[in-house]
Amino acid sequence: MKKVLLSARDLCKSFAVNGGQNHILDNVNVEVYEGDFTVIMGASGSGKSTLLYCLSGMDGITSGEVIYQERVISRLKEKDMTALRALEFGFVFQQMHLVSNLTLMENLTVTGFLNHKKSSKDVLERAKYLLETVNVSEARNRLPAQVSGGEAQRAAIARAVINEPGLLFADEPTGALNRKNTDDVLALLSTINEEGQSILMVTHDIRAAIRANRLLYLEDGKICGEMTLPPFYYDDAKSRETQVNSWLSSMAW
Ligand SMILES: Nc1ncnc2c1ncn2[C@@H]1O[C@H](COP(=O)(O)OP(=O)(O)OP(=O)(O)O)[C@@H](O)[C@H]1O
Ligand SMILES: [Mg+2]
Repeated sequence: MKKVLLSARDLCKSFAVNGGQNHILDNVNVEVYEGDFTVIMGASGSGKSTLLYCLSGMDGITSGEVIYQERVISRLKEKDMTALRALEFGFVFQQMHLVSNLTLMENLTVTGFLNHKKSSKDVLERAKYLLETVNVSEARNRLPAQVSGGEAQRAAIARAVINEPGLLFADEPTGALNRKNTDDVLALLSTINEEGQSILMVTHDIRAAIRANRLLYLEDGKICGEMTLPPFYYDDAKSRETQVNSWLSSMAW
């Protein structure tokens, strides 16, 4: 039986807009399992990013509970939530910001050194390995301003996983990348998931979605559909694409 890593109970989120309340998440109940590569899909504006921010404690919730490893994190004080996020979560967003006066390699190692469980040698080795995996090894000693947007983004993804977070949150991580860079990033995500990294990713890209072993569909602020797949294999890519496409059609995607 898979272990529940993160869950939401009756999660509601509203935004105050023009004197009224805009209800975005409507009693969401969801579980994310340890070791899974979970993907959230849904129409633009359905609340996917909002759900990711609420689950990761980046944004407050209106009512309900968010539970991470049996701990109700939605009630944590901001200071404790910040500490938990730094230690347990990794984040990848569509627009990422590396530290501009550090090289790509330093961006990774500085984050890696925050984790006192690892020796400097191990941090350097993992940083090198990750930069190689995302194909930015040659640019590793350059500043973010001296590399392409795709290279900077791939380095930021490598940085997000340097400390092997309990859960990696990713919001459209390949949204701004071309096909080759998208494939490199997806290959990295699949590799770290195979190594045990739990991932929760929002995407509208079928090529990214087929990497998941569990897909959730968000509509009108509710999870209204779910599909499970076996772990990803390259040879299965085409047939997974067909399966995911037909599931999405059934969801009125
Ligand atoms: N801070 C905010 N204040 C008011 N409304 C907001 C705020 N953030 C998001 N919304 C609204 O909540 C809804 C859901 O937004 P969200 O960004 O979660 O959608 P999404 O599913 O991620 O869409 P996309 O696929 O376009 O990224 C949208 O209607 C959006 O306008
Ligand atoms: Mg979004």
